[in-house]
Amino acid sequence: MDSNQLPTSQSIARQVQIYLEGASGKKPLVPTNLTDLEREAKKRMSPKGYGYMAGGAGEESTITRNREAFENWKIVPRMLQDVSTRDITTDLFGKTLKAPFLLAPIGVLDLAYKNGDLLTAKAAANTGIPMIFSNQASYSMEQMAGLMGNNPKWFQLYWSKSNRLVESLIKRAENSGCEAIVLTLDTTLLGWRLRDLDLAYLPFLEGNGIGQYTSDPVFKELMKLDLPEDPNAPKRRVTLQSIATLIKLAQNYPGSFFKNLTSGEPIKAVQTFINIYSRPNLTFEDLPFLRKLTKLPILLKGVLHPEDAIKACEYGIDGIIVSNHGGRQVNGAVSTFEVLPEIVNAVGHKVPVLMDSGIRTGSDIFKALALGAKAVLLGRTYCYGLAIAGQKGVEEVIQNTIADFELTMGLAGCKAVNEITSGHLKKVN
Ligand SMILES: Cc1cc2nc3c(=O)[nH]c(=O)nc-3n(C[C@H](O)[C@H](O)[C@H](O)COP(=O)(O)O)c2cc1C
Repeated sequence: MDSNQLPTSQSIARQVQIYLEGASGKKPLVPTNLTDLEREAKKRMSPKGYGYMAGGAGEESTITRNREAFENWKIVPRMLQDVSTRDITTDLFGKTLKAPFLLAPIGVLDLAYKNGDLLTAKAAANTGIPMIFSNQASYSMEQMAGLMGNNPKWFQLYWSKSNRLVESLIKRAENSGCEAIVLTLDTTLLGWRLRDLDLAYLPFLEGNGIGQYTSDPVFKELMKLDLPEDPNAPKRRVTLQSIATLIKLAQNYPGSFFKNLTSGEPIKAVQTFINIYSRPNLTFEDLPFLRKLTKLPILLKGVLHPEDAIKACEYGIDGIIVSNHGGRQVNGAVSTFEVLPEIVNAVGHKVPVLMDSGIRTGSDIFKALALGAKAVLLGRTYCYGLAIAGQKGVEEVIQNTIADFELTMGLAGCKAVNEITSGHLKKVN
């Protein structure tokens, strides 16, 4: 093929778009520089919303470590490999993904932008990238799936105290066209998050991020039960702030604002959610229950130890997501990049191993793939794009990530993701 007949790649198309638009005075909507991306997002978010999104557990040493760990390995590019065409598709569970990343499940996207879950679903569909619906979205999975056509979608489950609710959510995910279930393991208790504690802020109490519950028939039944009040809960006082919270709750809850304000239903929903949302006594022995519920691939998210990964495979789990929840749960936990090779070594020959927590750039994705990850999840970066420019902001973050990865892969001497190997990396400390 003559070089002038080469197909235009996604990366070059993105570069050309940015530079040509620049020539007519238009800058990209979202910065490509990740520090600037977060800074711009912060300007547009409320202090509570930004604190919730950016923050992590304790002094956030795991957030720092998630980024630092990538610096312990450097890419060693290979030359003269004919990288004129580059294929960044990857196969997962019998489907071909457009790029080796998915949008991580992120709850309460409304904190970044009004209707954030719906806008992200549209952005995922427009760019062809899979979205993993969060169990803590503010909208139902049916509403999000309805905007996405055939674009791949997965559902992330938090295992609540009610197995009937778990069953109902899984059935709804199947009916909504979700192609896999992600069971998140690392949030059976809420981490000690200093930013949220100091602002005394938890979005769920304002009715944010409980859309999967309030749209669920089993949850609605649970709301009717008179659950015993927590005897340790402090007595509620009527203050200006509590009235403001009630108003927000009535606004966020589905249905008419005035009915919500007077019916007491939103308060009941929040109380029911608080009572049931997590199940700290979950063990491996519970997994067969989930396994029997669905034929969809099940992935466990939050695995950090190879023995847990091995045990998961013994229980018929189809995939592992190495994750520390973006450093939001255990301050001082290992970074995901440093444990990835051990987990790939333990189970990578049996099931796909994915990873997240700290993925920011194309070279991060390249390094993760080189150490054996099948794909990665993009987390806070797309939320920051959302905060800056809504749906278009998410689309630009996705396009930039695709372009950055594709160029890194080509410049490192690889034509396709399956050519990326540990031989392209050098450990430097
Ligand atoms: C604001 C916020 C909300 C999140 N909500 C969820 C969630 O509902 N379910 C889940 O499994 N993980 C959740 N996560 C974790 C992400 O799925 C992912 O593991 C994490 O964002 C990766 O770290 P990174 O953002 O630093 O790349 C959340 C993360 C953030 C930042």
